[in-house]
Amino acid sequence: MKIPLVFTPFLLLFSLAQGLNSPKCDSHDDGSTLKVFHVFSQCSPFRPAKAMSWEESVLQLQAKDQARMQYLSSLVARRSVLPVASGRQITQSPTYIVRAKIGTPPQTLLLAMDTNNDAAWVPCTGCVGCSSPTPFSPAKSTTFRNLTCGSPQCNQVPNPTCSGSACSFNLTYGSSTVAANLVRDTLTLAADRVPGYTFGCIQKATGSSVPQQGLLGLGRGPLSLLAQTQNLYKSTFSYCLPSFKALNFTGSLRLGLAQPTRLKFTPLLKNPRRSSLYYVNLVAIKVGRKIVDIPPAALAFNPATGAGTIFDSGTVFTRLVEPAYTAVRNEFRRRVGRRVPVTTLGGFDTCYTGSIVVPPITFMFSGMNVTLPTDNIVIHSTAGSITCLAMAVTPNNVNSVLNVIANMQQQNHRVLYDVPNSRLGIARELCS
Ligand SMILES: *[C@@H]1O[C@H](CO)[C@@H](O)[C@H](O)[C@H]1NC(C)=O
Ligand SMILES: *[C@@H]1O[C@H](CO)[C@@H](O)[C@H](O)[C@H]1NC(C)=O
Ligand SMILES: *[C@@H]1O[C@H](CO)[C@@H](O)[C@H](O)[C@H]1NC(C)=O
Ligand SMILES: *[C@@H]1O[C@H](CO)[C@@H](O)[C@H](O)[C@H]1NC(C)=O
Repeated sequence: MKIPLVFTPFLLLFSLAQGLNSPKCDSHDDGSTLKVFHVFSQCSPFRPAKAMSWEESVLQLQAKDQARMQYLSSLVARRSVLPVASGRQITQSPTYIVRAKIGTPPQTLLLAMDTNNDAAWVPCTGCVGCSSPTPFSPAKSTTFRNLTCGSPQCNQVPNPTCSGSACSFNLTYGSSTVAANLVRDTLTLAADRVPGYTFGCIQKATGSSVPQQGLLGLGRGPLSLLAQTQNLYKSTFSYCLPSFKALNFTGSLRLGLAQPTRLKFTPLLKNPRRSSLYYVNLVAIKVGRKIVDIPPAALAFNPATGAGTIFDSGTVFTRLVEPAYTAVRNEFRRRVGRRVPVTTLGGFDTCYTGSIVVPPITFMFSGMNVTLPTDNIVIHSTAGSITCLAMAVTPNNVNSVLNVIANMQQQNHRVLYDVPNSRLGIARELCS
């Protein structure tokens, strides 16, 4: 099946005028818990101005994933560490956003949530090339400070330069370059205040990949939010991601030690070369009752090459390296049977236009088996006429060694990142 797709630049479809005005969207974040919105939600100003068909939105998300996979692959392949703002394409269309406030008095921003990034950056007033209006005005904040070239943080950013005594830096991502001043100001997350939070205040951006309101990286690198809030949150957070199909959904991002306890756990693995990525040990995959035949090398964690499996909030559909994906897909097709013919939709190669019985899929991690409910395995068109296995092979132009457990497979689960105890926890939780 071929569906025509017009590649309109994603950002141009978005309108800042909408969203966040309805009472539901304005409701306050409490304690250390932030609401999490899908970019397509009623509460998101980034949702497409024109309604997209189901097929169009799936293909958009797939195109975005392609960019995300390229970004993640560049992360594992490269050796240098770029602690602030190492993002490339992804920030142009984040999947989930949270509300944060910066400055005194506080200015509200909708930041993209990204678990595998340490970036902290915000487009500032006067930014040349950022989308308008810029979300943050330093001049209106009494607590805003520029960081000097002599500050230790200035050594942790890519390409630092001095303009006067102020520390600036620049970087390339996707088709864009960004120049930012390294600054600090008070960050407010729900009811928590983080004085002197260090981030990049974007002054200049080129190309179309610029982040609209900034990024909240939840990676664990040196200048990350976790590193800067060590006393407050102890490098611990969890989220529940709402489904993109539900309309009025909000999930939650819970920061700090007050976390649910009834979870299954698997160890978090650390790659010294890519310290911000959250690796886990995926040992096998079961389709129905059968453990499918995957060569161990396709799943093995290898810090030298970056191979292994990560949890990611920014990728939409789970990606498996070729031998793993083929084994899962073949068994899935065998279980569904030949009565209904297999068709394709964009990057999905296992779709059906008749009704099918979906076999359960179990990810077997060290110490933890996670059996996915049907809603995390397949996507259905709104009209119910097409059903696709919502996973794909790692794109071959990326040459990736990385398996990515993506947000579609995590939706309606509580996922806990417990860095001090080096473990990741999961429990089913309906938050759509
Ligand atoms: C921070 O630096 C920018 C650019 O160098 C400058 O325009 C601004 O006045 C400085 N702000 C403060 C509060 O020092
Ligand atoms: C970024 O900074 C480096 C080092 O200061 C400089 O050589 C380069 O021209 C800058 N690039 C851009 C695009 O501003
Ligand atoms: C979403 O909220 C709006 C307004 O609050 C309401 O009219 C609508 O029925 C809700 N939709 C769903 C699917 O719950
Ligand atoms: C996961 O499932 C496998 C096979 O069904 C079983 O042998 C193993 O004990 C389970 N592991 C846990 C931690 O429950």
